Amino acid sequence: MRDSRLKETSPVHPSHDRLSALLDAAVDGMVVIDGAGRITSFNPAAERLFGYTAAEILGHNVKMLMPNPYHDEHDQYLQRYLSTAQPHVIGIGREVIARRRDGSMFPIELSVGEFKSGSEHGFVGIIRDITARKRQEDALRKNSEELRLILESTPTAIAITDIDGRLVRINPAFQRLLGYSIEALAGQSQEDLVRTLVAEDDRKSLLSDIHKLYHTGESFRRDVRFHSRDAQEIHAMIYAGAVCNTDSQPRLMVSQIIDRSALFAAEHEAEELRAQLAHVSRIGTLGEMVSGIAHEVNQPLTAIANYANAVKRFLQSGRADPMEVAGTLEKISAQAVRAGQVIHGLRKLTRRRETERVKLDCNALIQEVSRLIEFELRFSEHELLLELDPTLPKVFGDGVQFQQVVLNLIRNALEAMKDGAQGESVTVTTSVQVDGYVEIVVSDTGPGLTPEVEERLFEPFFTTKPRGMGVGLSICKSIVSAMDGNLSCRLASTGGAEFVIQLPIVSE
Ligand SMILES: Nc1ncnc2c1ncn2[C@@H]1O[C@H](COP(=O)(O)OP(=O)(O)OP(=O)(O)O)[C@@H](O)[C@H]1O
Ligand SMILES: [Mg+2]
Repeated sequence: MRDSRLKETSPVHPSHDRLSALLDAAVDGMVVIDGAGRITSFNPAAERLFGYTAAEILGHNVKMLMPNPYHDEHDQYLQRYLSTAQPHVIGIGREVIARRRDGSMFPIELSVGEFKSGSEHGFVGIIRDITARKRQEDALRKNSEELRLILESTPTAIAITDIDGRLVRINPAFQRLLGYSIEALAGQSQEDLVRTLVAEDDRKSLLSDIHKLYHTGESFRRDVRFHSRDAQEIHAMIYAGAVCNTDSQPRLMVSQIIDRSALFAAEHEAEELRAQLAHVSRIGTLGEMVSGIAHEVNQPLTAIANYANAVKRFLQSGRADPMEVAGTLEKISAQAVRAGQVIHGLRKLTRRRETERVKLDCNALIQEVSRLIEFELRFSEHELLLELDPTLPKVFGDGVQFQQVVLNLIRNALEAMKDGAQGESVTVTTSVQVDGYVEIVVSDTGPGLTPEVEERLFEPFFTTKPRGMGVGLSICKSIVSAMDGNLSCRLASTGGAEFVIQLPIVSE
């Protein structure tokens, strides 16, 4: 068959055999036509591409390999070129559509060359199937178009920076959130960018996260306060990940910035409400305790009056022993200090104030609470025992609210034991747990909890007491959660109830 094709091609050139061998070996399709557009050579690669054998196509007009409009216009192209010598495709490559024998189309890259040899004049077309490349290009274009659409339509602010920390791209949500266009930020170094966009206190830790990401590819998330262009502070969460090269070297950092201002405001409001509720409940609890406390304050005051009278009598008798007078005055001052302490404790618990977050010494706070409780206990047969671990580390939180939790738990315990036998006790134990928590346990020797009560214990307004509000434990729970801790309940070994507060230790 190849021989027949060789014969068809006019043997005008001495090296015709060599040309023929070249055409056969070529990877690209090669189609030679004469000046009238008739195919004079069709190599095996072209046979594979178009599905025609050389034998059936030789001598036919080359336009049968083209779909419209090329099919209908090719003769004119050729005519025009031959008469004007103005090339359109000759000498240059271009992408066109070709047609197979079965009518299907495929994209090709076509380059056309002209040759003149003796009387022979023709053109050679070199054809490369670019279906795969086109498909790849289309997929890539579609991909990047999709990516662009995602970036533009997502409500999350996104910024992309390169390995040098320079901004490559931001999306419209970023611009809406922070007010900057890419032009306003382009060219800034990583440090400058962070300085422009981030609140001073958050810069150092953010930069160290970013450096780590560029070195190790490790993604990070962090709460950051941003500054918008119009100087608004924006509480946001930044989530950054690395885009890596094939050798897993970080190449780009993609940061998503999630606005948490609304959430932050809501959290703040909830915190305030909680504090208010805690305050109201505290006043209620203290209201119930007030007669006991008044009695306690009254005692030192009565003692002071008595001692003062005694001193007066000493002095009036004219036989006053200075040592005795000094001793009595000392007693007066001790009683005054005691009364002062009670009042101080009360004032602290009744004042309305913002919630703080400071380092707390739980033992000292428990001791203060126990002093207030002791006044009440004088009238009862029960006792309050403290087993405090002197090495107890500090925790974070609000001191008054922590005291409120302990006070509520102790009062619940005392109330539970009210109708029980005499000589029952409440024990407050503090200890360090191995998992980085301190544990404060309030246990009693009361009747314990029935399963129904245990199930609803922390529900607001759940109470079994005729005059109870049922808010004590739910407030305790919310205070402890706000301290990142946990409040739970279990059966004590004595059969009573045992409430367990766990609070994370503050690292020094
Ligand atoms: N130590 C305990 N032993 C047995 N039952 C308890 C104990 N502590 C709480 N309870 C039960 O849990 C219920 C809810 O307690 P909570 O402190 O929330 O409300 P309260 O004490 O009834 O009212 P208040 O709002 O005045 O505190 C109590 O009514 C009681 O039935
Ligand atoms: Mg209670």
